Amino acid sequence: MQGAATTEELLEIHGRIRACVTCRLHVTRTQAVPGYGPVEARIMAVGEAPGEKEDQQGRPFVGAAGKLLTELVESIGLTRRDLYITNTVKCRPPGNRDPELDEVAACSRFLDEQIALLRPDVILILGRHALNRLLPESAGISRLHGERVVRDDRVYVPLYHPAAALYNGSLRETLLADMRRVRSYLDEAEGMRHAPAAPPPEAVAADQLSLFAQ
Ligand code: URA
Repeated sequence: MQGAATTEELLEIHGRIRACVTCRLHVTRTQAVPGYGPVEARIMAVGEAPGEKEDQQGRPFVGAAGKLLTELVESIGLTRRDLYITNTVKCRPPGNRDPELDEVAACSRFLDEQIALLRPDVILILGRHALNRLLPESAGISRLHGERVVRDDRVYVPLYHPAAALYNGSLRETLLADMRRVRSYLDEAEGMRHAPAAPPPEAVAADQLSLFAQ
């Protein structure tokens, strides 16, 4: 079995992200925004790209969308300390434009490494850019939001991006309802972790045999 991930390993990835000059976004960034949260987090949230405040502070989701993300997380009895938060691309696109496909591709390995290291119970996909990156060729966010999608042994829950709910009040209710579903997925994952290991097949067979013998 793989050993527990360490903070040093996560910081090593962060260091490479901060030094990355693979795509054009490094030219206009103030700093890269690798991600934030404890390496032990069981939940990972993946957004689109850093905005202006994130670019200044070097941390993801510190602006208005981040405030709503905090509310959503707290609505199911968690805090931001329970999450590791990152983005599809780690550097701010100028003027907050959408990330280009080649920028997403250039950043791809970092997100893969973060997911492989943390092995979270649930990956919250925030918005369509993260959805396209993590579940390419899936249905759109309006169809998949709140659903649990299992792919390659990983559990994803697509959600509307919190920024979208800042402009469309009804999405806020949808996000809150979807977060309640996330809570139930987490409870199930927790239950599985604490469930007694299934008895080996011989033990089951022997047990059944004794039932028949009586
Ligand atoms: N802040 C982020 O870090 N990512 C987003 O997608 C939006 C705001």
